[in-house]
Amino acid sequence: MLIIRNISQLCSGPKGPVRLDKPELVTRHYHAAIGIDDGKIAWVRDSYDEPIPPGARVIDAGGRAVIPGLIDCHTHTVFAGTRENEFVLRAEGRSYSEIAESGGGIKSTVKAVQQASLEELVAIAMPRLHRMLEWGVTTVEVKSGYGLSVEDELKMLRVIKALNEAQPIELIPTYLAAHSIPNEFRGDGDGYLDSVLSDDVLKTIADEQLAEFADVFCERNVFTVEQSRRVLEKCREFGLAPRIHADQIAQIGASKLAAEVGAVSVDHLEEIDEESLLAIKKSGTIAVLLPACSFYLGVPQAPARAIIQAGVPAAVATDFNPGSCCIESLPLTMSIACTQMGMTPEQVLVASTANAAAVLKRADRIGSIEPGMQADITILDLPNVEQMFYFAGRNCTHTVIKAGEVVMRNR
Ligand code: NIG
Ligand code: FE
Repeated sequence: MLIIRNISQLCSGPKGPVRLDKPELVTRHYHAAIGIDDGKIAWVRDSYDEPIPPGARVIDAGGRAVIPGLIDCHTHTVFAGTRENEFVLRAEGRSYSEIAESGGGIKSTVKAVQQASLEELVAIAMPRLHRMLEWGVTTVEVKSGYGLSVEDELKMLRVIKALNEAQPIELIPTYLAAHSIPNEFRGDGDGYLDSVLSDDVLKTIADEQLAEFADVFCERNVFTVEQSRRVLEKCREFGLAPRIHADQIAQIGASKLAAEVGAVSVDHLEEIDEESLLAIKKSGTIAVLLPACSFYLGVPQAPARAIIQAGVPAAVATDFNPGSCCIESLPLTMSIACTQMGMTPEQVLVASTANAAAVLKRADRIGSIEPGMQADITILDLPNVEQMFYFAGRNCTHTVIKAGEVVMRNR
């Protein structure tokens, strides 16, 4: 048995998905201890001062606060090249869409990814995952979507698989071939989809277990609602659960589509309207809020409070990518959710743990600290959880435990 003791306060939500408009969202244990057996949480106790049982290993948390390992349920962590030129253009007043339409944007990253080998992409992404671990993150979803050809999309998925096996964070792969229409198929989105949605490709993905989810950028000038429906329905036949980049720039009915196809999540929602909100509430789809993306682009945030008040469970993730949000830090993103979206620290904590786990269909295993759950635990170098949000942008992680093993010590 491993015992983590001397925890000033332990904060955890219940298993996801949960509505965030309830009082007492988070359970707190004070002067607490956690017992871990076989990588799983055996017990959680308050006011723990007992002698150490014979044979037990002990981690003394030293009066620090403890939270569930953080879960980043929406990222584009695998990419080559950088796009600081676009950051400068935006600072000069150009918009994300203008830059994309004049040949920058996703397409410039696609060129770099196509030119990079699998090994090079692994080497480029590895330090990003190490930094995420240093921020207390134990599970990360990673999308393809910068390959935009059968060969390069499969390469991206294999990169994610190789990364998953080579470092402690659990990675969950998503097939996002429908991220943009490559130049060879300009004006022929359907033709492009014919190639990346062929039975052969999807069978390879299923057989090699290269992805668990399918995603699509359903947006004006990218994929239409009908094309997006095709992507998600076809991928579902091969076992990939649907997710959607929806209502980010224009309102074209993407989140209504999410509701219709029973997507697990609908992500972005900066431009969601009343009707769409009702639709996703009915379908039980989880809203993934990406506050660091709007912060980075300098555009209005998704209406988080309205979404939460409507009773839609919400998750918060980074959307880390080389264009619209080059922010790797989930804790910084969580602070931004408080200051720019009007969410409370408790809501955000649950959004980036229990609800993020639900988005990734793992809520019965990760995302909360309860007996029976996998022991994914982050010890903060802080006496309480609120300080993690308050010290925005500062890394307050002390120790990270994944499935009962210490995988990172910052200090
Ligand atoms: O989630 N919206 C589309 N995809 C990314 C941006 C990708 C990029 O600019 O490279 C996003 O914001
Ligand atoms: Fe994204």
